[in-house]
Amino acid sequence: MPVDIVPIEENHIDGFHRTLDIVARERRYLAFLEAPPIETTRAFVRDNIKRGYPQLVAISAGEVIGWCDVTAKPRPIYGHGGVLGMGLLPQFRRRGIGNDLIRRSLIAAKAFGFHRVELTVRERNSNALELYKKVGFEIEGVQRDAVQIDGVYENLILMAVLF
Ligand SMILES: CC(C)(COP(=O)(O)OP(=O)(O)OC[C@H]1O[C@@H](n2cnc3c(N)ncnc32)[C@H](O)[C@@H]1OP(=O)(O)O)[C@@H](O)C(=O)NCCC(=O)NCCS
Repeated sequence: MPVDIVPIEENHIDGFHRTLDIVARERRYLAFLEAPPIETTRAFVRDNIKRGYPQLVAISAGEVIGWCDVTAKPRPIYGHGGVLGMGLLPQFRRRGIGNDLIRRSLIAAKAFGFHRVELTVRERNSNALELYKKVGFEIEGVQRDAVQIDGVYENLILMAVLF
């Protein structure tokens, strides 16, 4: 089944929310343990569309199976920086889809006018760490024990790429 990567549209919001929720509930990767409420997610996506922030979704058989978004940091002195988040449903990983999604999102982020794109990744998420290094991100720092889930701490790695 082919996978298409397209800019997010209003009709993808429910599918994006479902996908985000599944990945969040894995508890191993994201900063969420479940997706934010659907109305919060709807507002987030609508704002991204309105402002032209890159948000791409991966579609298989008409369903959203992954996403990658780059949104601006809120304060003016940081506004040249975008923050990247991404994820794929488990059964669609390790097939190169993440690689396509992030490369296309970085092209869109550069075209949007961001000077840098940054992200945080949990230290044990080696798949994501390797992918980010491969597409040009460098480690800028480590927040020690910044993550705590079920009493277990994990370092958070800060990464960025400059255009
Ligand atoms: C991280 C994620 C988006 C990567 O997407 P993916 O489609 O699985 O990755 P790809 O198949 O495109 O692989 C791209 C590269 O990532 C690295 N990679 C991916 N899976 C890996 C694994 N199991 N072990 C080592 N490296 C891996 C490799 O460098 C790989 O390149 P290669 O195929 O040439 O070896 C995906 O695994 C995912 O959704 N994970 C859960 C959510 C998540 O971690 N989100 C990011 C939070 S910061």
